[in-house]
Amino acid sequence: MDWQQSPFVLLLLASLFTKGLASPLKGSESWGYVPVRDGAHMFWWLYFADSPSAHYTELPLVMWLQGGPGGSGTGFGNFEEIGPLDRDLKPRDTTWVQSASVLFVDNPVGTGFSFAETDEAFAKDVSTVSSDMMVLLRSFFTDRDDFQNIPFYIFSESYGGKMAAAISLALTEAVAHGSIKCNFAGVALGDSWISPLDSVMTWGPYLYTTSLLDDLGLAEVSAVAQDVQAAMEQGHFLKATELWSLAESVVEKNTNNVNFYNILTQDPEQSVGAKPGADAISLQFHRHVQRLQRRSLSQLMNGEVRRRLKVIPQNVTWGGQAEAVFRNMAADFMKPVVETVDQLLSSGVNVTVYNGQLDLIVDTMGQELWVKELKWEGLPFFNKLRWTPLDDPAAPGVTGAFYKTYKNFSFYWILKAGHMIPSDQGAMALHMLQMITQS
Ligand SMILES: *[C@@H]1O[C@H](CO)[C@@H](O)[C@H](O)[C@H]1NC(C)=O
Ligand SMILES: *[C@@H]1O[C@H](CO)[C@@H](O)[C@H](O)[C@H]1NC(C)=O
Ligand SMILES: *[C@@H]1O[C@H](CO)[C@@H](O)[C@H](O)[C@H]1NC(C)=O
Repeated sequence: MDWQQSPFVLLLLASLFTKGLASPLKGSESWGYVPVRDGAHMFWWLYFADSPSAHYTELPLVMWLQGGPGGSGTGFGNFEEIGPLDRDLKPRDTTWVQSASVLFVDNPVGTGFSFAETDEAFAKDVSTVSSDMMVLLRSFFTDRDDFQNIPFYIFSESYGGKMAAAISLALTEAVAHGSIKCNFAGVALGDSWISPLDSVMTWGPYLYTTSLLDDLGLAEVSAVAQDVQAAMEQGHFLKATELWSLAESVVEKNTNNVNFYNILTQDPEQSVGAKPGADAISLQFHRHVQRLQRRSLSQLMNGEVRRRLKVIPQNVTWGGQAEAVFRNMAADFMKPVVETVDQLLSSGVNVTVYNGQLDLIVDTMGQELWVKELKWEGLPFFNKLRWTPLDDPAAPGVTGAFYKTYKNFSFYWILKAGHMIPSDQGAMALHMLQMITQS
Protein backbone atom coordinates (compact mmCIF):
# COMPACT_ATOMS: atom_id res chain seq x y z
CA MET A 1 0.00 0.00 0.00
CA ASP A 2 1.16 3.49 -0.83
CA TRP A 3 0.32 5.80 2.04
CA GLN A 4 1.51 9.30 1.26
CA GLN A 5 2.74 10.93 4.39
CA SER A 6 2.89 14.56 5.32
CA PRO A 7 6.47 15.47 4.32
CA PHE A 8 5.46 14.64 0.80
CA VAL A 9 2.31 16.67 1.13
CA LEU A 10 4.28 19.66 2.34
CA LEU A 11 6.54 19.26 -0.63
CA LEU A 12 3.48 19.17 -2.82
CA LEU A 13 2.01 22.30 -1.27
CA ALA A 14 5.36 24.01 -1.61
CA SER A 15 5.49 23.11 -5.26
CA LEU A 16 1.97 24.40 -5.76
CA PHE A 17 2.97 27.61 -4.16
CA THR A 18 6.08 28.11 -6.23
CA LYS A 19 3.98 27.48 -9.32
CA GLY A 20 1.94 30.50 -8.30
CA LEU A 21 -1.22 28.62 -7.38
CA ALA A 22 -1.87 29.88 -3.88
CA SER A 23 -3.21 26.95 -1.93
CA PRO A 24 -6.07 27.62 0.49
CA LEU A 25 -5.19 24.45 2.35
CA LYS A 26 -3.91 25.04 5.82
CA GLY A 27 -4.54 21.44 6.70
CA SER A 28 -3.18 18.58 4.74
CA GLU A 29 -4.14 15.80 2.46
CA SER A 30 -3.25 12.22 1.89
CA TRP A 31 -3.95 9.67 -0.85
CA GLY A 32 -3.05 6.27 -2.11
CA TYR A 33 -4.10 2.93 -3.51
CA VAL A 34 -5.49 -0.10 -1.73
CA PRO A 35 -5.46 -3.46 -3.55
CA VAL A 36 -8.96 -4.78 -2.85
CA ARG A 37 -8.89 -8.03 -4.86
CA ASP A 38 -6.54 -9.69 -7.34
CA GLY A 39 -5.85 -7.13 -10.05
CA ALA A 40 -8.25 -4.61 -8.48
CA HIS A 41 -6.82 -1.36 -7.12
CA MET A 42 -8.85 1.35 -5.46
CA PHE A 43 -7.74 4.97 -5.21
CA TRP A 44 -8.66 7.25 -2.31
CA TRP A 45 -7.95 10.87 -1.50
CA LEU A 46 -8.42 12.37 1.96
CA TYR A 47 -8.61 16.04 2.90
CA PHE A 48 -8.24 16.73 6.60
CA ALA A 49 -10.87 19.09 7.97
CA ASP A 50 -9.60 22.65 7.80
CA SER A 51 -11.51 24.83 10.25
CA PRO A 52 -10.30 27.92 12.11
CA SER A 53 -12.19 26.86 15.24
CA ALA A 54 -11.72 23.11 15.51
CA HIS A 55 -9.02 20.50 15.07
CA TYR A 56 -9.79 17.76 12.55
CA THR A 57 -10.14 15.28 15.42
CA GLU A 58 -13.11 17.35 16.68
CA LEU A 59 -14.90 17.26 13.33
CA PRO A 60 -16.56 14.35 11.53
CA LEU A 61 -15.16 12.29 8.67
CA VAL A 62 -17.29 12.11 5.53
CA MET A 63 -16.79 9.66 2.69
CA TRP A 64 -18.24 10.87 -0.63
CA LEU A 65 -19.43 8.37 -3.23
CA GLN A 66 -20.10 9.50 -6.80
CA GLY A 67 -22.64 8.04 -9.18
CA GLY A 68 -22.41 6.40 -12.58
CA PRO A 69 -21.40 3.70 -11.84
CA GLY A 70 -18.06 4.92 -13.10
CA GLY A 71 -18.19 8.58 -11.98
CA SER A 72 -15.12 9.65 -10.03
CA GLY A 73 -15.41 11.21 -6.58
CA THR A 74 -11.76 12.31 -6.57
CA GLY A 75 -12.48 14.17 -9.80
CA PHE A 76 -16.10 15.27 -10.07
CA GLY A 77 -17.10 15.33 -6.40
CA ASN A 78 -13.81 16.91 -5.44
CA PHE A 79 -13.35 19.59 -8.12
CA GLU A 80 -16.96 20.18 -9.21
CA GLU A 81 -18.88 19.82 -5.96
CA ILE A 82 -17.43 19.84 -2.44
CA GLY A 83 -13.61 19.80 -2.45
CA PRO A 84 -11.41 22.72 -1.35
CA LEU A 85 -10.65 23.77 -4.95
CA ASP A 86 -12.88 24.12 -7.97
CA ARG A 87 -12.03 22.98 -11.48
CA ASP A 88 -10.05 26.18 -12.07
CA LEU A 89 -8.11 25.45 -8.86
CA LYS A 90 -9.73 28.43 -7.16
CA PRO A 91 -10.80 28.05 -3.51
CA ARG A 92 -14.42 26.96 -3.08
CA ASP A 93 -16.33 28.99 -0.46
CA THR A 94 -18.74 26.18 0.24
CA THR A 95 -16.23 23.34 0.52
CA TRP A 96 -17.23 20.61 2.97
CA VAL A 97 -13.63 20.51 4.18
CA GLN A 98 -14.43 23.50 6.44
CA SER A 99 -16.78 21.26 8.47
CA ALA A 100 -15.44 17.74 8.03
CA SER A 101 -12.53 15.68 6.86
CA VAL A 102 -13.54 14.43 3.43
CA LEU A 103 -12.54 11.08 1.96
CA PHE A 104 -13.11 10.62 -1.76
CA VAL A 105 -12.93 7.07 -3.03
CA ASP A 106 -12.99 6.14 -6.71
CA ASN A 107 -15.30 3.14 -6.72
CA PRO A 108 -16.25 0.67 -8.19
CA VAL A 109 -12.81 -0.54 -9.27
CA GLY A 110 -11.95 1.01 -12.65
CA THR A 111 -13.50 4.39 -11.78
CA GLY A 112 -11.37 7.55 -11.85
CA PHE A 113 -7.81 6.63 -10.89
CA SER A 114 -8.85 3.20 -9.58
CA PHE A 115 -8.01 0.45 -12.02
CA ALA A 116 -8.63 -3.15 -12.95
CA GLU A 117 -5.78 -5.16 -14.43
CA THR A 118 -8.05 -7.71 -16.08
CA ASP A 119 -11.62 -7.83 -17.38
CA GLU A 120 -12.51 -10.18 -14.53
CA ALA A 121 -11.48 -7.62 -11.92
CA PHE A 122 -14.46 -5.30 -12.58
CA ALA A 123 -17.35 -5.55 -10.14
CA LYS A 124 -20.60 -6.92 -11.58
CA ASP A 125 -22.93 -6.23 -8.67
CA VAL A 126 -23.43 -4.08 -5.63
CA SER A 127 -22.41 -6.92 -3.35
CA THR A 128 -18.87 -6.96 -4.83
CA VAL A 129 -18.82 -3.16 -4.74
CA SER A 130 -19.52 -3.28 -1.03
CA SER A 131 -17.10 -6.09 -0.17
CA ASP A 132 -14.37 -4.19 -2.06
CA MET A 133 -15.17 -1.10 -0.01
CA MET A 134 -14.88 -3.10 3.22
CA VAL A 135 -11.30 -3.96 2.24
CA LEU A 136 -10.57 -0.30 1.61
CA LEU A 137 -12.16 0.91 4.84
CA ARG A 138 -10.46 -1.79 6.93
CA SER A 139 -7.13 -0.70 5.51
CA PHE A 140 -7.93 2.99 5.97
CA PHE A 141 -9.06 2.79 9.60
CA THR A 142 -6.20 0.44 10.51
CA ASP A 143 -3.56 2.71 9.06
CA ARG A 144 -5.23 5.89 10.28
CA ASP A 145 -6.29 4.98 13.79
CA ASP A 146 -6.66 8.71 14.58
CA PHE A 147 -9.97 8.43 12.68
CA GLN A 148 -11.34 5.38 14.51
CA ASN A 149 -13.34 7.36 17.08
CA ILE A 150 -14.36 10.25 14.85
CA PRO A 151 -18.02 10.08 13.72
CA PHE A 152 -17.94 8.64 10.22
CA TYR A 153 -20.65 9.44 7.67
CA ILE A 154 -21.17 8.24 4.14
CA PHE A 155 -22.61 10.82 1.73
CA SER A 156 -23.51 9.93 -1.79
CA GLU A 157 -25.02 11.06 -5.04
CA SER A 158 -27.06 9.19 -7.61
CA TYR A 159 -25.80 5.64 -8.18
CA GLY A 160 -23.42 6.37 -5.31
CA GLY A 161 -26.48 6.17 -3.05
CA LYS A 162 -27.28 2.66 -4.16
CA MET A 163 -23.70 1.69 -3.36
CA ALA A 164 -23.79 3.67 -0.11
CA ALA A 165 -26.84 1.77 1.14
CA ALA A 166 -25.18 -1.61 0.58
CA ILE A 167 -21.83 -0.38 1.90
CA SER A 168 -23.47 1.01 5.04
CA LEU A 169 -25.12 -2.30 5.80
CA ALA A 170 -21.88 -4.24 5.30
CA LEU A 171 -20.05 -1.67 7.43
CA THR A 172 -22.60 -1.96 10.23
CA GLU A 173 -21.97 -5.71 10.30
CA ALA A 174 -18.19 -5.30 10.12
CA VAL A 175 -18.23 -2.84 13.01
CA ALA A 176 -20.47 -5.17 15.06
CA HIS A 177 -18.04 -8.06 14.45
CA GLY A 178 -15.06 -5.87 15.23
CA SER A 179 -13.44 -6.44 11.82
CA ILE A 180 -13.49 -2.69 11.08
CA LYS A 181 -12.91 -0.21 13.87
CA CYS A 182 -14.76 3.02 13.21
CA ASN A 183 -17.51 5.19 14.65
CA PHE A 184 -20.09 4.80 11.90
CA ALA A 185 -22.67 7.53 12.48
CA GLY A 186 -24.93 7.53 9.44
CA VAL A 187 -25.53 7.55 5.70
CA ALA A 188 -26.97 10.27 3.48
CA LEU A 189 -28.51 9.33 0.14
CA GLY A 190 -28.51 12.25 -2.30
CA ASP A 191 -30.65 11.99 -5.46
CA SER A 192 -30.06 8.31 -5.11
CA TRP A 193 -30.83 5.40 -7.40
CA ILE A 194 -32.54 3.40 -4.62
CA SER A 195 -35.65 2.46 -6.58
CA PRO A 196 -34.95 2.96 -10.30
CA LEU A 197 -38.47 2.00 -11.35
CA ASP A 198 -40.04 4.66 -9.11
CA SER A 199 -37.86 7.22 -10.88
CA VAL A 200 -38.77 6.08 -14.38
CA MET A 201 -42.50 5.81 -13.58
CA THR A 202 -42.69 9.39 -12.31
CA TRP A 203 -40.83 11.09 -15.18
CA GLY A 204 -44.06 11.51 -17.16
CA PRO A 205 -46.18 13.09 -14.38
CA TYR A 206 -43.29 15.28 -13.21
CA LEU A 207 -42.54 16.62 -16.69
CA TYR A 208 -46.25 17.05 -17.44
CA THR A 209 -46.88 19.18 -14.35
CA THR A 210 -43.84 21.35 -15.12
CA SER A 211 -44.98 22.07 -18.72
CA LEU A 212 -42.36 19.86 -20.29
CA LEU A 213 -44.74 17.31 -21.82
CA ASP A 214 -48.04 17.68 -23.61
CA ASP A 215 -50.73 14.99 -23.52
CA LEU A 216 -49.23 13.10 -26.46
CA GLY A 217 -45.76 13.25 -24.91
CA LEU A 218 -47.09 12.08 -21.56
CA ALA A 219 -48.75 9.10 -23.23
CA GLU A 220 -45.50 8.11 -24.99
CA VAL A 221 -43.33 8.49 -21.90
CA SER A 222 -45.84 6.54 -19.80
CA ALA A 223 -45.99 3.74 -22.37
CA VAL A 224 -42.23 3.21 -22.44
CA ALA A 225 -42.06 3.46 -18.65
CA GLN A 226 -44.58 0.63 -18.50
CA ASP A 227 -42.31 -1.44 -20.73
CA VAL A 228 -39.49 -0.90 -18.22
CA GLN A 229 -41.86 -1.99 -15.46
CA ALA A 230 -42.86 -5.14 -17.34
CA ALA A 231 -39.21 -6.12 -17.88
CA MET A 232 -38.50 -5.56 -14.18
CA GLU A 233 -41.50 -7.63 -13.12
CA GLN A 234 -40.24 -10.49 -15.28
CA GLY A 235 -36.82 -10.20 -13.69
CA HIS A 236 -35.19 -9.13 -16.99
CA PHE A 237 -32.91 -6.55 -15.48
CA LEU A 238 -30.50 -6.10 -18.39
CA LYS A 239 -33.49 -5.65 -20.70
CA ALA A 240 -34.85 -3.11 -18.20
CA THR A 241 -31.57 -1.16 -18.42
CA GLU A 242 -31.89 -1.11 -22.22
CA LEU A 243 -35.51 0.03 -22.02
CA TRP A 244 -34.49 2.71 -19.52
CA SER A 245 -32.24 4.05 -22.26
CA LEU A 246 -35.12 3.99 -24.73
CA ALA A 247 -37.34 5.78 -22.20
CA GLU A 248 -34.78 8.56 -22.02
CA SER A 249 -34.70 8.90 -25.79
CA VAL A 250 -38.51 9.26 -25.72
CA VAL A 251 -38.19 11.96 -23.04
CA GLU A 252 -35.53 13.82 -25.04
CA LYS A 253 -37.64 13.72 -28.21
CA ASN A 254 -40.76 15.04 -26.46
CA THR A 255 -39.09 17.73 -24.35
CA ASN A 256 -36.70 19.08 -26.93
CA ASN A 257 -33.82 17.69 -24.88
CA VAL A 258 -34.60 18.55 -21.30
CA ASN A 259 -31.50 18.09 -19.16
CA PHE A 260 -32.00 14.99 -16.99
CA TYR A 261 -29.94 16.68 -14.30
CA ASN A 262 -31.87 19.94 -14.08
CA ILE A 263 -35.21 20.41 -15.78
CA LEU A 264 -34.78 24.16 -16.12
CA THR A 265 -32.00 23.62 -18.63
CA GLN A 266 -31.66 21.85 -21.96
CA ASP A 267 -28.85 19.64 -23.09
CA PRO A 268 -28.92 18.71 -26.76
CA GLU A 269 -25.53 17.05 -26.29
CA GLN A 270 -26.61 14.70 -23.55
CA SER A 271 -25.11 11.63 -25.17
CA VAL A 272 -22.28 13.39 -26.97
CA GLY A 273 -19.46 11.04 -27.89
CA ALA A 274 -21.67 7.98 -28.34
CA LYS A 275 -20.94 6.38 -31.70
CA PRO A 276 -23.81 6.25 -34.20
CA GLY A 277 -25.58 2.94 -33.67
CA ALA A 278 -24.03 2.51 -30.23
CA ASP A 279 -25.84 -0.06 -28.11
CA ALA A 280 -28.12 1.05 -25.28
CA ILE A 281 -25.47 0.52 -22.61
CA SER A 282 -22.90 2.65 -24.43
CA LEU A 283 -25.52 5.33 -25.04
CA GLN A 284 -26.35 5.38 -21.33
CA PHE A 285 -22.68 5.53 -20.40
CA HIS A 286 -22.32 8.65 -22.54
CA ARG A 287 -25.53 10.18 -21.20
CA HIS A 288 -24.75 9.65 -17.56
CA VAL A 289 -21.08 8.99 -16.88
CA GLN A 290 -19.20 10.78 -19.64
CA ARG A 291 -20.73 14.06 -18.43
CA LEU A 292 -18.90 13.52 -15.13
CA GLN A 293 -15.58 13.45 -16.95
CA ARG A 294 -15.94 16.06 -19.64
CA ARG A 295 -12.87 17.44 -21.32
CA SER A 296 -11.92 20.22 -18.97
CA LEU A 297 -12.06 17.99 -15.89
CA SER A 298 -10.39 15.12 -17.67
CA GLN A 299 -7.53 17.38 -18.75
CA LEU A 300 -7.07 18.60 -15.17
CA MET A 301 -7.08 15.08 -13.71
CA ASN A 302 -4.85 13.57 -16.38
CA GLY A 303 -2.56 16.60 -16.37
CA GLU A 304 -1.79 18.68 -13.35
CA VAL A 305 -3.50 16.48 -10.77
CA ARG A 306 -1.79 13.23 -11.71
CA ARG A 307 1.57 14.98 -11.89
CA ARG A 308 1.08 16.20 -8.35
CA LEU A 309 -0.20 12.90 -6.99
CA LYS A 310 2.83 11.06 -8.37
CA VAL A 311 1.42 7.60 -7.51
CA ILE A 312 -0.77 7.03 -10.56
CA PRO A 313 0.68 4.21 -12.71
CA GLN A 314 1.72 5.39 -16.14
CA ASN A 315 -0.72 3.24 -18.02
CA VAL A 316 -3.72 4.32 -15.92
CA THR A 317 -5.84 7.10 -17.38
CA TRP A 318 -8.32 8.87 -15.11
CA GLY A 319 -11.72 7.84 -16.49
CA GLY A 320 -10.20 5.42 -18.99
CA GLN A 321 -12.04 2.38 -17.64
CA ALA A 322 -15.31 4.12 -16.76
CA GLU A 323 -17.28 2.60 -19.63
CA ALA A 324 -16.12 -0.88 -18.63
CA VAL A 325 -17.23 -0.18 -15.06
CA PHE A 326 -20.68 0.88 -16.27
CA ARG A 327 -21.02 -2.04 -18.70
CA ASN A 328 -20.05 -4.61 -16.09
CA MET A 329 -22.72 -3.31 -13.73
CA ALA A 330 -25.46 -3.08 -16.39
CA ALA A 331 -27.37 -6.20 -15.31
CA ASP A 332 -27.45 -4.99 -11.71
CA PHE A 333 -28.26 -1.40 -12.57
CA MET A 334 -32.07 -1.41 -12.33
CA LYS A 335 -32.35 -3.57 -9.20
CA PRO A 336 -33.81 -1.65 -6.27
CA VAL A 337 -32.22 -1.53 -2.81
CA VAL A 338 -35.24 -0.30 -0.82
CA GLU A 339 -34.99 -3.37 1.40
CA THR A 340 -31.40 -2.47 2.22
CA VAL A 341 -32.55 0.95 3.46
CA ASP A 342 -35.12 -0.83 5.65
CA GLN A 343 -32.40 -3.09 7.04
CA LEU A 344 -30.29 -0.04 7.83
CA LEU A 345 -33.16 1.55 9.74
CA SER A 346 -33.91 -1.60 11.70
CA SER A 347 -30.20 -1.85 12.56
CA GLY A 348 -30.37 1.62 14.10
CA VAL A 349 -28.35 3.41 11.38
CA ASN A 350 -29.20 7.09 10.86
CA VAL A 351 -30.43 7.49 7.30
CA THR A 352 -30.97 10.79 5.48
CA VAL A 353 -32.50 11.17 2.04
CA TYR A 354 -31.91 14.47 0.26
CA ASN A 355 -33.17 15.38 -3.17
CA GLY A 356 -32.99 18.28 -5.61
CA GLN A 357 -36.27 19.83 -6.67
CA LEU A 358 -35.18 20.17 -10.32
CA ASP A 359 -33.67 16.72 -10.77
CA LEU A 360 -35.38 14.58 -13.40
CA ILE A 361 -33.22 11.46 -13.54
CA VAL A 362 -33.92 10.79 -9.84
CA ASP A 363 -36.95 13.00 -9.30
CA THR A 364 -38.31 13.77 -5.85
CA MET A 365 -41.69 12.23 -6.69
CA GLY A 366 -39.99 8.87 -7.19
CA GLN A 367 -38.11 9.18 -3.89
CA GLU A 368 -41.38 9.87 -2.08
CA LEU A 369 -42.81 6.67 -3.54
CA TRP A 370 -40.14 4.28 -2.30
CA VAL A 371 -39.93 6.00 1.07
CA LYS A 372 -43.65 5.31 1.49
CA GLU A 373 -42.98 1.63 0.80
CA LEU A 374 -40.55 1.31 3.73
CA LYS A 375 -41.48 -1.21 6.40
CA TRP A 376 -39.72 0.94 8.99
CA GLU A 377 -41.90 1.17 12.11
CA GLY A 378 -41.39 4.92 12.36
CA LEU A 379 -42.89 5.62 8.93
CA PRO A 380 -46.50 6.33 10.05
CA PHE A 381 -45.15 8.88 12.54
CA PHE A 382 -42.79 10.39 9.99
CA ASN A 383 -45.66 10.73 7.51
CA LYS A 384 -47.77 12.65 10.02
CA LEU A 385 -45.08 15.26 10.70
CA ARG A 386 -45.17 18.64 9.03
CA TRP A 387 -42.01 19.71 7.28
CA THR A 388 -39.86 22.59 8.49
CA PRO A 389 -38.62 25.28 6.10
CA LEU A 390 -34.92 26.16 6.15
CA ASP A 391 -33.53 29.48 5.04
CA ASP A 392 -30.99 29.40 2.25
CA PRO A 393 -27.79 30.55 4.02
CA ALA A 394 -26.79 32.36 0.82
CA ALA A 395 -30.09 34.31 0.74
CA PRO A 396 -31.52 34.87 4.22
CA GLY A 397 -35.30 35.10 4.20
CA VAL A 398 -35.57 32.88 1.15
CA THR A 399 -36.52 29.23 1.68
CA GLY A 400 -33.72 26.98 0.50
CA ALA A 401 -35.07 23.65 1.67
CA PHE A 402 -37.65 21.80 3.70
CA TYR A 403 -36.85 18.97 6.03
CA LYS A 404 -38.46 16.43 8.26
CA THR A 405 -36.85 14.14 10.77
CA TYR A 406 -38.17 11.33 12.94
CA LYS A 407 -35.88 9.13 15.01
CA ASN A 408 -33.32 7.59 12.63
CA PHE A 409 -34.70 8.96 9.38
CA SER A 410 -34.60 12.42 7.79
CA PHE A 411 -35.65 13.82 4.44
CA TYR A 412 -34.37 17.09 2.93
CA TRP A 413 -36.17 18.65 -0.03
CA ILE A 414 -33.54 20.96 -1.55
CA LEU A 415 -35.04 23.76 -3.63
CA LYS A 416 -33.60 25.21 -6.85
CA ALA A 417 -31.14 22.33 -7.12
CA GLY A 418 -30.95 19.63 -9.73
CA HIS A 419 -29.16 16.29 -9.46
CA MET A 420 -25.80 17.68 -8.30
CA ILE A 421 -27.00 19.52 -5.22
CA PRO A 422 -23.65 20.87 -3.96
CA SER A 423 -22.88 22.26 -7.45
CA ASP A 424 -26.27 23.96 -7.71
CA GLN A 425 -26.85 25.05 -4.09
CA GLY A 426 -23.47 24.96 -2.39
CA ALA A 427 -24.37 26.96 0.72
CA MET A 428 -27.55 24.97 1.33
CA ALA A 429 -25.69 21.68 0.86
CA LEU A 430 -23.01 22.74 3.33
CA HIS A 431 -25.67 23.75 5.84
CA MET A 432 -27.36 20.38 5.46
CA LEU A 433 -24.04 18.61 6.02
CA GLN A 434 -23.59 20.60 9.22
CA MET A 435 -27.11 19.75 10.40
CA ILE A 436 -26.74 16.05 9.70
CA THR A 437 -23.31 15.76 11.28
CA GLN A 438 -24.00 18.41 13.92
CA SER A 439 -20.65 20.01 13.12
C1 LIG B 1 -0.31 -1.39 -16.25
O1 LIG B 1 0.92 -2.08 -16.42
C2 LIG B 1 1.17 -3.09 -15.46
C3 LIG B 1 2.54 -3.64 -15.71
O2 LIG B 1 3.44 -2.62 -15.84
C4 LIG B 1 0.10 -4.15 -15.53
O3 LIG B 1 0.29 -5.09 -14.50
C5 LIG B 1 -1.26 -3.52 -15.37
O4 LIG B 1 -2.25 -4.50 -15.61
C6 LIG B 1 -1.47 -2.37 -16.33
N1 LIG B 1 -2.70 -1.71 -15.95
C7 LIG B 1 -3.64 -1.39 -16.82
C8 LIG B 1 -4.84 -0.70 -16.27
O5 LIG B 1 -3.58 -1.64 -17.98
C1 LIG C 1 -28.36 9.16 15.19
O1 LIG C 1 -28.73 10.50 15.36
C2 LIG C 1 -29.14 10.82 16.67
C3 LIG C 1 -29.67 12.23 16.73
O2 LIG C 1 -29.40 12.96 15.61
C4 LIG C 1 -27.96 10.63 17.60
O3 LIG C 1 -28.34 10.93 18.91
C5 LIG C 1 -27.49 9.20 17.51
O4 LIG C 1 -26.34 9.01 18.29
C6 LIG C 1 -27.18 8.82 16.07
N1 LIG C 1 -26.93 7.40 15.97
C7 LIG C 1 -25.72 6.92 15.66
C8 LIG C 1 -25.62 5.44 15.52
O5 LIG C 1 -24.76 7.61 15.49
C1 LIG D 1 -32.61 4.20 15.90
O1 LIG D 1 -33.08 2.90 15.66
C2 LIG D 1 -32.85 1.99 16.69
C3 LIG D 1 -33.29 0.63 16.21
O2 LIG D 1 -34.59 0.69 15.66
C4 LIG D 1 -33.54 2.45 17.96
O3 LIG D 1 -33.26 1.55 19.00
C5 LIG D 1 -33.06 3.83 18.31
O4 LIG D 1 -33.75 4.31 19.42
C6 LIG D 1 -33.22 4.78 17.14
N1 LIG D 1 -32.60 6.07 17.42
C7 LIG D 1 -33.28 7.18 17.66
C8 LIG D 1 -32.50 8.44 17.85
O5 LIG D 1 -34.48 7.18 17.71
